[in-house]
Amino acid sequence: MVDTETTRQLRVAAATRLERVRYAIRDVAVVAEQLVREGKQILPLNVGDPLKFDFRTPPHLVEAVARAMRDGYDGYAPSAGLEDALEAIRSEAERKGIRNIQSVFVTQGVSEAVDLCLTALVNPGENVLTPCPEYPLYSAVLAKLGAEPNPYHLDESLGWEPDLDDMAARINTRTRAIVVIHPNNPTGALCSRSTLEAIIELARRHHLVLLADEIYDKLILDGQPHVSLASLASDVPVVTFNGLSKAYLVPGWRVGWGIVSGPADALAPYVEGIHKLLRARLSGNHPAQYAIRPALEGPQDHLTEVVRKLRARRDLTMQWCESTPGLSCVRPTGAFYAFPRLHISGSDEEFVRRLLIEKQVLVVHGSGFGQKPGTRHFRMVFLPDEATLTRAFQSIAEFLRASGC
Ligand SMILES: Cc1ncc(COP(=O)(O)O)c(C=O)c1O
Repeated sequence: MVDTETTRQLRVAAATRLERVRYAIRDVAVVAEQLVREGKQILPLNVGDPLKFDFRTPPHLVEAVARAMRDGYDGYAPSAGLEDALEAIRSEAERKGIRNIQSVFVTQGVSEAVDLCLTALVNPGENVLTPCPEYPLYSAVLAKLGAEPNPYHLDESLGWEPDLDDMAARINTRTRAIVVIHPNNPTGALCSRSTLEAIIELARRHHLVLLADEIYDKLILDGQPHVSLASLASDVPVVTFNGLSKAYLVPGWRVGWGIVSGPADALAPYVEGIHKLLRARLSGNHPAQYAIRPALEGPQDHLTEVVRKLRARRDLTMQWCESTPGLSCVRPTGAFYAFPRLHISGSDEEFVRRLLIEKQVLVVHGSGFGQKPGTRHFRMVFLPDEATLTRAFQSIAEFLRASGC
């Protein structure tokens, strides 16, 4: 028999730094998993994975990776990435107007690029300006590093444009960088060119690095051109993140990258730091990197179809939000997320939990992304087909009615 005292001693404690690590998007799924074990069917509107719905990977990309594996490219890749893939990424960045490129590297998704670039930049006690609401990866990595997220507001009344006054007021002597997610997750909003220029000016004045997450740059729903932040700022250090997960419909392949641009001399130590970490983790996924050039330079027909479907589903989502008491929503213009505001009195976390248990529809609470005090939201993906979305909308509306909203 093992007594209680010994049992306690045998437990392996997780590091205390994890207490600040949160990732609401997958955390809510734990409750859903329990319901599935009980035999319930869940409609998952929580995770941004198009492959869970009626989107399929372009066959020429599957063929490129299959060929690489048949040809035996199964060893480690060069740490920074395959030369051919790096060239294709650099050429595309130049086509988007990014100048002064100092380094390009391939990672296990944008997720690893963000982790690595923050690790190479930020010391414990320093802070990074992160959007609020924010895709929570940035705050999770900062928590792990003993650094602080320094959240600046996105203004819901201005279509979720960054609040520049708030951003400027939050910069202090320990601030190292500004994160801009463009288009944004969870709001689906794009920044205007003048906002991007104002953010660059702040970075220039305060010697900050810009971290531009542009993973949704090809999922623009109303035809406006996407302007890369780095294309407006050749004299300011910028790391632009992008990858294959979303626009090329291969989130499971884990292919992302970073592009460092700006003044060579100023950036040299940072670039060397990033490459030190790239070498320490050996390499990215080798065969999957053979899809990078075919993706960026091959047929793009699937994108037309993806954007057409997303636009129709976004429109349906907006019609529903506008006609449902208790809801309002800023129209998303990029990506595949809507962030409706809940005009209810309880917490959004409780709303999400009860909606899941009572209607088996899984969305993510707004507080998991950060939001202005006193406001409540939820994030949903509008990836499912119209029939499935309509069912989800009916369930959510019934739930809102039944709970007296
Ligand atoms: C804004 C943003 N950045 C990064 C990622 C992670 O992308 P990857 O699959 O390339 O790691 C996501 C995934 O949802 C995202 O929404």
